[in-house]
Amino acid sequence: FEVPIAVNEPVKDYAPGSPERATVSATYTEMYNSTIDVPLYINGKNVTTGDTGTMSPPHDHKHILGTYHKAEKKHITEAIDTALEARTKWAEMPWEQRAGIFLRAAELIAGPYRAKINAATMLGQSKSIYQAEIDAACELIDFLRFNVQYMTEIYKEQPASTSGAWNRLEYRPLEGFIYAITPFNFTAIAANLPASAALMGNVVVWKPSDSQVYSAKIILDIFKEAGVPAGVINMVMGDPVMITDTVLASPDFSGVHFTGSTHVFKDIWQKIGTNIHNYKTYPRIVGETGGKDFIVAHKTANPIQVATGIVRGAFEFQGQKCSAASRCYISKSIWSDVKAQLIKDIDSLKMGSPEDMSNFITAVIHEGSFDKLASYIDAAKKDTNAEIIAGGNYDKSVGYFIEPTVIVTEDPKYKTMSTELFGPVVTIYVFDDSKWEETLQLVDGTSEYALTGAVFSEDRYALEVAIKALQNAAGNFYVNDKPTGAVVGQQPFGGARASGTNDKAGSKLNLYRWISPRMIKETF
Ligand code: ALA
Repeated sequence: FEVPIAVNEPVKDYAPGSPERATVSATYTEMYNSTIDVPLYINGKNVTTGDTGTMSPPHDHKHILGTYHKAEKKHITEAIDTALEARTKWAEMPWEQRAGIFLRAAELIAGPYRAKINAATMLGQSKSIYQAEIDAACELIDFLRFNVQYMTEIYKEQPASTSGAWNRLEYRPLEGFIYAITPFNFTAIAANLPASAALMGNVVVWKPSDSQVYSAKIILDIFKEAGVPAGVINMVMGDPVMITDTVLASPDFSGVHFTGSTHVFKDIWQKIGTNIHNYKTYPRIVGETGGKDFIVAHKTANPIQVATGIVRGAFEFQGQKCSAASRCYISKSIWSDVKAQLIKDIDSLKMGSPEDMSNFITAVIHEGSFDKLASYIDAAKKDTNAEIIAGGNYDKSVGYFIEPTVIVTEDPKYKTMSTELFGPVVTIYVFDDSKWEETLQLVDGTSEYALTGAVFSEDRYALEVAIKALQNAAGNFYVNDKPTGAVVGQQPFGGARASGTNDKAGSKLNLYRWISPRMIKETF
């Protein structure tokens, strides 16, 4: 059970003049100037359907990067059948072979594909090079490497035996196939959801987000080159309701690995309930959904640290992280210092195309997202109980650009304190120094979500009170740090309440969901 010890992939800095910056720039330009066609991928073959959608950079939405094919119902049935045919051989393949495939995928990304997967993520999802490097290169490599290590740790877990009886656990994959539904905002998550289930011996039907197909295609190429056999991971795009309904109607559906919105996940759960009598096995339901993540700062907090936490937590990745800080509670006596630093920091942030690597913030993913964010900003401009102290402008003439925006409100229940916006807009409520406990109750009770949160204080008693009062308010809780940036192998990630099933991506806890152990007792 020994495998190479997993280590986190070092993040390259793409400094001006560095060879890696030159390579990624050239790859970006080359990819920008050509178009690709992304077919469905079923049983190891490309399948074109004639019904296509187009792909464009969100920061340059009139430019066409290519087309992708949309499935009809028959393609989904074919993907399921093909996965089930591939299952026996894949499930019986020794774990070393499965490990070898995904470790090879990690090395392909670390080396020959690094520039391409980063450039694809910059173009297709509008990430800056730094955001792409953290996501599509490092986090993805980490998922692949650490999952192999966790798999072997699980396989080693065996019950005690006696001289007359040998007890052994056989870690079988689930019977049937897994459905992976993946989001636009992380290339790493898009790859990890099908890959982690497949690593544990499962076969997968994978539906990437329409807004992430461009980099999903590169992932698929890497998996193929690394040796994932035909039929094990099948990629389908198209009408999400049709795809999901077709998948969930199969008696062999045995689990969903989901990252996306809360309401879609709840719909899926409900449909699974409706179909429950048709399934051969109880399906595993694993989902990471929304967030309305908080920062709460005590009067003893360091204002500079708090301002940095807000800027990085709310605006890195354009705020398009389920973990992004989007509601902040700041103690009155430090507010003017926090505010001054915040405005200064935001003034220095550059926004624009990822092609210019000095840009900190780029475009949001699509027009729907842009319009939603713009409408909340407009409402805040009109509302008497809200004030915009930074940003507030937006422009979609070339790309979907929303300025990093700070709304301050005197109403702790103001709509942007509880509604998930998924973009670079943060709302701040300033509380009375004497109301620490009451404010913690507000933090806990204002949102339906419980994904991430951060508390800032130099006072250990205040921290202790906060850690206790907010014990159910976040699955990933940060003390004196921004609430984002969980690292695989260091901070297992996930939350409860409306934020998901808290099966902690990037840890053994997640992999347990993709196995159905058989206990074998042999008596001598
Ligand atoms: N895992 C990502 C983070 O922690 C979403 O920010």
